[in-house]
Amino acid sequence: MKINALHYANLSNQKSDCIILGVYEKGKFTASGDVINQASEGFLAKWIDSGEIKGELGQTLLLHNVPGISATRILLVGLGSKPTLQARQYSKVLKSAMKRLLDTPSKDVINCLPEVSVEQYDLAWRVRQAVIMAEDTTYQYNATKSKKQPKYVLETLNFNGEDKTLNNAIQQGQAIAAGMNACKALANLPSNICTPTYLANQALELAKEIKTLKARSLDVEEMKALGMGSLLAVGQGSREPARLIIIEHHGASDAAAQPYVLVGKGITFDTGGISIKPSGDMDEMKFDMCGAASVFGTLRAVAQLQLPINVVGLVASAENMPGGGAIKPGDIVTSMSGQTIEILNTDAEGRLVLCDALTYAERYNPKIVLDMATLTGAMMVSLGTEISGFFSNDDALAEDLAKAAKESDDPSWRLPLWRAYDEQLKSNFADLANIGLRWGGAITAACFLAHFTEKFRWAHFDIAGTATLSGKDKGATGRPVPLLTQYLLNQCE
Ligand code: BES
Ligand code: MN
Ligand code: ZN
Repeated sequence: MKINALHYANLSNQKSDCIILGVYEKGKFTASGDVINQASEGFLAKWIDSGEIKGELGQTLLLHNVPGISATRILLVGLGSKPTLQARQYSKVLKSAMKRLLDTPSKDVINCLPEVSVEQYDLAWRVRQAVIMAEDTTYQYNATKSKKQPKYVLETLNFNGEDKTLNNAIQQGQAIAAGMNACKALANLPSNICTPTYLANQALELAKEIKTLKARSLDVEEMKALGMGSLLAVGQGSREPARLIIIEHHGASDAAAQPYVLVGKGITFDTGGISIKPSGDMDEMKFDMCGAASVFGTLRAVAQLQLPINVVGLVASAENMPGGGAIKPGDIVTSMSGQTIEILNTDAEGRLVLCDALTYAERYNPKIVLDMATLTGAMMVSLGTEISGFFSNDDALAEDLAKAAKESDDPSWRLPLWRAYDEQLKSNFADLANIGLRWGGAITAACFLAHFTEKFRWAHFDIAGTATLSGKDKGATGRPVPLLTQYLLNQCE
């Protein structure tokens, strides 16, 4: 999609396939809506007065043959009753506008929705979010379909307003969206294609495509030599060998500048292992590498933005299967940190692969470490499917992340890293057990990880509820790429 910010001296005689305009309840327009309404001698207002569109948030009305207007179509979108929208409401407006627009054969479009005022955010931000929504809603999965869906005809999206900050905003939006869509593309692949080996090869491809990125991976033998007994244990029940994948972005002028390290859970399929899962909806466990996919996506965004920082992505990848060589409840492994772990439940495998990747992160002398994982069903119980939960051992880092979550409209909430629950992770036979009691399962999982992150500032994102959608919209969301990219952008200010 081509995206431009242009200055339109007179919108009414502007040739375009569609102009998107916001309208409040009671019929008030933003500036461009007034221009079009006047040029059409109140044609828009007539439809509002007749009740065809009430202006409720996200409501749409498509108009053709608007008199006095050169554009083929006018798409009206409801803005609700308040003059200033909240960021979430603005997203909803953008989304319904895009959904309606994509149903029309419009190629060249002028989107005036960023004219609306949004609490706390300026025009550049509003344009950026509109760019992300446009790219997000035009994502299509075709990789494994013999009949590809017809491509959307939308080619050019224009915004009203021209200056350098808008071009910058557009670039940011495009980079974040490219990261999200890269994340979705990987996450949506089935596990018979997307294996740990496939992910490792995709890292090499990414580094081939983007010159500032370097990629390599550690195979089973190399991980054995490093003592990654916990990560390897998860992969040992599968025919697919485990991998630790490393992607580096070198953007800082000081090559030795401490990097931001992103760690992703890359379980390409989670059967539960010997502690096998129930079969209903088990297909969705191909998404158990969404944390890994978010690392790939964020590195793409960071590289595209040429951020002047160093970033390292570490992906801990394995397939959790109940094969003849699989780990069994009660088995004890030694992690790279030296701590021994009693595996009481083989379905609590995410923390087992992450802990060794977190220990590996120490060698980078990281500025901070963030891990992303579809880690627990308990997190879905806690925060539902719209809010990601995160934990941190550092209050300043947690504040920065909460700020980035808001600014990127990627809702996330901090939960307590309640170390009293470490009690639940005690084992009679090892240093740690890999599960706690039933209640507070997202917190005990975070506490488990905390045993491997004492040497750096760290936060853990449990994205079990937010990385994917179920039902008819089944698929990856690309989250939390927006939050992560925003956090890293903010670090460059
Ligand atoms: N990958 C799952 C968590 C998950 C569940 C993600 C549902 C997305 C949707 C994870 O490996 C898992 O199985 N966790 C267990 C932990 C338990 C055994 C302590 C869980 O949440 O039930
Ligand atoms: Mn599991
Ligand atoms: Zn899992």
